[in-house]
Amino acid sequence: MSVSILRGRSLSFREVPRSHTDEASYIFEEDGAVAIRDGLIAASGSFSAIREQFSGAEIIDHRPNLILPGLIDTHLHFPQVQVIGSFGAKLLDWLHTYTFVEEQKFADAAHCERMATHFFDNLLRNGTTTAAAYCSVHKTSAEAYFAEAGRRNLRMIGGKVMMDRNAPEALCDTPQSGYDDSKDLIARWHGRGRAHYAISPRFAITSTPTQLEMAQALKAEHPDCYFQTHLSENDAEIKLTLELYQSARDYLDVYQMYDLLGDRSLFGHCIHLGGRERAAMAESRSVAVFCPTSNLFLGSGLFDEDGLRSRGVRTAVATDIGGGTSYSMLRTLDEAYKVLQLRNQVLNPLKSFYMMTLGNARALKLEHKIGTLEQGSEADIVVMDARATAAMALRMETVNTLPEELFVLQTMGDDRAVAAVYVAGKASHPDFNGPKHLYRR
Ligand code: GUN
Ligand code: ZN
Repeated sequence: MSVSILRGRSLSFREVPRSHTDEASYIFEEDGAVAIRDGLIAASGSFSAIREQFSGAEIIDHRPNLILPGLIDTHLHFPQVQVIGSFGAKLLDWLHTYTFVEEQKFADAAHCERMATHFFDNLLRNGTTTAAAYCSVHKTSAEAYFAEAGRRNLRMIGGKVMMDRNAPEALCDTPQSGYDDSKDLIARWHGRGRAHYAISPRFAITSTPTQLEMAQALKAEHPDCYFQTHLSENDAEIKLTLELYQSARDYLDVYQMYDLLGDRSLFGHCIHLGGRERAAMAESRSVAVFCPTSNLFLGSGLFDEDGLRSRGVRTAVATDIGGGTSYSMLRTLDEAYKVLQLRNQVLNPLKSFYMMTLGNARALKLEHKIGTLEQGSEADIVVMDARATAAMALRMETVNTLPEELFVLQTMGDDRAVAAVYVAGKASHPDFNGPKHLYRR
């Protein structure tokens, strides 16, 4: 099998960076290279060493851009591509006024297929090569999602939402049909190519206790599937949840009563958790997913990254399209930085880039496959240009260090800073065939 070499300034993480000067946490090569064979990373290191090891290989020169592992988004909604930027509401009104209206259109397979093309184009344009998405209640939406991800050979997690109350009739399944449809989708897609299924009751408000029992059964029957839902996002949501589940000690307890916690369980938002809930999240190795643009846009609150981490809770970061306002993980981490400023917590730029790569890979227990440039990893790679706009290029004139460069990328960058994206070794940017500014030698 032929080998391709990507040459550039390569950056990959080993550990969570404790500060912006924590050099032990990452591997950086100023003149670096990644050798790709058969969709996998055959080796990475200095360009001189890689060229010697693979003499005669095609070389794609991305200097002076950064070569990073593909970005990972751990929570977003496929049927909300036309919900982004819907005005003037908080969570529950926003769901009823905008989201549930758009999601009904996903009963139509042709609509699902068209939206899936746009969805994955937008992810790739932003350098995101793996994501965990909610589909609509309709089986067709999950079919379209996995089929399109499969055509592009993307490692993607997804699942149809289960919801059987407090939503329009047309968006409700039943405990039995939600179970049966999820089961069929798992049989068809989970483990096929690079696909993973996530059992996805939307949240406690839209599921009856019987439906959560069905989710519990699915999770017990398929322990290697993911589980995803929403938790403690908004005051009105918490209040209504506790009215609907009066025997629950707190919001998390609703899910805990049905054995839905665990190391593959992703809980979106987790903004207002109490001490017992944090302890139970930590104990069960569940993941709290920080969705900064969404939390600001819907006025939901400020995530407590340090408070959760210091109590041993695993965390991840995500766009939450379409409550979230950008597909870009750069924009997302920029807003995360600002949220944490308001909390008097400091998110250093090395940690931001760790979070969108290895950190999120670990949250998904996929770090042996994605999230690094290590030998044997899948060759999902993004190339980033910190001089992508005139304003960025001007700012870069005063930048001297790698953390400074990363912070400029995060603060000023977006899809324009993505110079190339590779999926399992194949150039896959939707707008240009092969990398921008490409020099082949
Ligand atoms: N809670 C239940 N459903 C949703 C959703 O679609 N978006 C957000 N942000 N929160 C939710
Ligand atoms: Zn969500």
